[in-house]
Amino acid sequence: MTPVLAAAAKNTKNAVGRTCNMKTIVEQADPARPAAEVIQKAAGILRAGGLVAFPTETVYGLGGNGLDEEACQKIYLAKGRPSDNPLILHISEREELAQIVREVSPAAKKLMDAFWPGPLTLIFPKTDIVPMRTTGGLDTVAVRFPSHPVARAIIRAAGVPIAAPSANSSGKPSPTRASHVEFDLTGRIDMIVDGGAAEWGLESTIVDVSGEKAMILRPGAVTKEMLEAVVGEIAVDPAILSKPEGEFRPKAPGMKYTHYAPKAEVWLVRGSREAVAACINRLAEAERNTGKVIGVMATAETEGLYHADAVLSLGSRERPEEIGSNLFKTLRKFDFLGMDKVYAEVFPEDGEGMAIMNRLNKAAGYRAIDAEERGEES
Ligand code: TXA
Ligand code: MG
Repeated sequence: MTPVLAAAAKNTKNAVGRTCNMKTIVEQADPARPAAEVIQKAAGILRAGGLVAFPTETVYGLGGNGLDEEACQKIYLAKGRPSDNPLILHISEREELAQIVREVSPAAKKLMDAFWPGPLTLIFPKTDIVPMRTTGGLDTVAVRFPSHPVARAIIRAAGVPIAAPSANSSGKPSPTRASHVEFDLTGRIDMIVDGGAAEWGLESTIVDVSGEKAMILRPGAVTKEMLEAVVGEIAVDPAILSKPEGEFRPKAPGMKYTHYAPKAEVWLVRGSREAVAACINRLAEAERNTGKVIGVMATAETEGLYHADAVLSLGSRERPEEIGSNLFKTLRKFDFLGMDKVYAEVFPEDGEGMAIMNRLNKAAGYRAIDAEERGEES
C-alpha cells in the first residue's frame, strides 16, 4: 500500500468517538423544491427541542430553537463549542426581525435591502426574549436571513428563529456537503437534511451594525467592496487578516479560536509562482525522505508544478468564487488522505480574496513562509 492509501485507511472512522449513541436520520431534499414531508419532519424535531442540520447557500448549519436555552445548550455540546461563542439566529422573513432585535439603524436597513436574503449576517442590539445562552452572554444578537429554499422552508415551518452555527465539530473546516456533517456529527444530532452542495462554501459575511459605525467582523461572499457601494466606507476588524494577540482581540468571539484546521499542519507559502513551487518542492522532498506524507494545495494554473504525495487544486485563480467554494472540501480531503503537512498557495486579499485568506490564515494558525527569502538562504 502507498503511504497515502495507508494513511487514508486509518482515517475512515467517524470523527467523534464516545458519545455517538443517538439515532441520526438522514433525508434527501431537492435543493430548489424540497418535499413538504421532509420539511415538516425537520420542523417537528426543531419545535420539540431537537437538532437538525440543513443546507444554506454558505455552508451547512446545525439548527436548534434559538429561543430555547436547552436546545442551544445541545448545539454547544454536539459541536464541542466553547459556550462564550455566540450563535447566529436565522429567520425566514424580514418581519421576524422585530421580535429579536431592539433597534435597526439606517445603515442596517440599507444593507438588508441590498443583501437579504443572502450570505450577510448583521449584529443588532437584542430584545429580552433572546436568551443569553444563544448570544454567549452578549446583549447583541447576530441575525441571518438565508436565501437557500431548504433553509427558508425549515425555518418557516418551525415557526421560531433558528440558531445555526456551521454544522462541523468545533475547530474543523465548515461542512459544505451533508457527508461532511455525517462524518462530524452522526450520533450527536437528530436529523441531517441533505440538499446537495452548499453554493458559496464559505460562511456569511458578518457586519456589526449595533453601534455608531458599521464594521466587518468576518469576511464572506458579500465583499467589502459590495458593502461600501451601499453604505460608504466601512471599517474592518483588524483581527481579520493578522494574528490576534494581546489586547488585539477579534470582535466576533468565534474568530479567536483555532478554526478550519485539518489534522495536518498547514503552511502558507508566499512569493512568485516559480519561487513558491521551487520552495515547496524542496521542502517536500526533504520531508518525504524522512517518511512524512506531504500535500500541496494548488490551483488549476499551478498544480503541474509540484511533486508531493497529494497535489489538490482549489480551482482556477481566475475564479475566486470557485476557490472559496472548494476550500473547506479540500482541507477535509487532505485529512482523509492522512497528510502530515500541507503547503498552500496564497491569494490576493481584495474582493472574495479577503474571505479566502482569512480562512486560510486560520487553517494554518498564521504559519507562513516567504519563498523568496527561503530561495536566497539555500
Ligand atoms: O454562513 C453562516 O453564517 C453559517 C450558516 C450556517 O448560516 N453559520 C455560521 O455560524 O457560520 P458560526 O456559529 O459558525 O459562526 C458565527 C460567528 C462566530 O464567529 C460568532 O462569534 C459570531 O458569529 N457572532 C455571533 N453572534 C455574535 C455577536 N452578537 N457579536 C459578535 N459576533 C457574533
Ligand atoms: Mg463555524
